[in-house]
Amino acid sequence: MQAPELTIVLPAFNESKNIEPLVGKIADAMGQIAHEVIVVDDNSPDDTTGVTRRLAAKHPHVRCIRRVGRRGLSGACIEGMMAANAPVVVIMDADMQHDETRLPTMLDEIKNGADLVIGSRYVDGGDHKAGFNQKTRAKGSEIATTMANYITGHYTSDPMSGFFMLTRQTADKAAETVSKDGFKILFDIVSRYGDTLKIKEVPFQFRERVEGESKLGFLVTIQFFGLLVSRFTGGLIPMRFMLYALVGFTGLFVHMATLFALHYGANVDFAVAQFAGAFAAMTSNFILNNSVTYAHRKLKGNRFWIGLLTFYAVCSVGALANVSIAQSLFELNQSTLFAGFAGALMNAVFNYAVTKLVTWRD
Ligand code: GDD
Ligand code: MN
Repeated sequence: MQAPELTIVLPAFNESKNIEPLVGKIADAMGQIAHEVIVVDDNSPDDTTGVTRRLAAKHPHVRCIRRVGRRGLSGACIEGMMAANAPVVVIMDADMQHDETRLPTMLDEIKNGADLVIGSRYVDGGDHKAGFNQKTRAKGSEIATTMANYITGHYTSDPMSGFFMLTRQTADKAAETVSKDGFKILFDIVSRYGDTLKIKEVPFQFRERVEGESKLGFLVTIQFFGLLVSRFTGGLIPMRFMLYALVGFTGLFVHMATLFALHYGANVDFAVAQFAGAFAAMTSNFILNNSVTYAHRKLKGNRFWIGLLTFYAVCSVGALANVSIAQSLFELNQSTLFAGFAGALMNAVFNYAVTKLVTWRD
């Protein structure tokens, strides 16, 4: 086998029906250009790995990386890039929505000196509408694109694209710093390295997905907003803390709703209703953090219940510390607003840090 010029990384979750036809289409599009294909599967229940391994037995340029106990598009992309043998790497959806016939043109751009080539749906000759089966998603993508550009401060027509090629040198550099959790690895790369990279764009038409379904749901959207704010602070505030804080904010409403319902609706004593409110908020915070903030290491079965208990415990300690700190500040003649806020902030940081170590430890 000739040494590959290009490594094609296909992150895949439940794409068993798409792998074989896509590998064939890629071979047609690449013609004489030696290439390898790496499928990165996060232990999909539909046996994407099995399909890929059977294909690899016939075609040695195909390989499979099967990850267990982990989920996440960005992390899968990074692992694929790090396993690449070629000097140039491209990330592409495994569901045939990306246009493989653009690969040779993208590779030419790299050969002409680009560090990063973005397959763009938003330049002349590109299109994004066909790929989105709902109007709201097309609109959502447009809005997210505008916001992303505003935040990176570095204009590219399609910073949310999942189709991009880069030199292995750029990939190596990016792998050390980009977030492994999100869905938007290109956005992350452009926002960190945009100013130092030579970026080119190649138009492509986003195709309709035929087999399987999209994994970009509500959860991914929320996580993306966490990432946006995190990048806005230059990475100072981690994305996960943003999500944690957001969940905490919803807890406030759960608490208030429970308090009012019990106290006014059912005549329950204020202190008891307040206690129940706190309990309800902790419970809903745990459930939301478990499925949003820590979606990638969601606790299930027994571990769910143990996690819930440790969460209650940590939050209780946090609340005690909160009250005592606020009290001390208040006694030092600080304003009520300042003392209250400082206690609450400390509480949030404490809960975040400790539950990360205890409840959702790796
Ligand atoms: N290994 C792995 N793990 N692969 C994943 C995971 C995961 O957790 N989640 C998604 N994938 C794979 C899918 O199997 C698919 O091959 C690719 O990543 C993209 O996921 P889709 O679910 O098809 O995303 P989409 O088509 O809705 O979104 C597209 O447009 C977005 C921008 O609007 C993609 O191109 C995104 O990358 C892009 O950001
Ligand atoms: Mn897709």
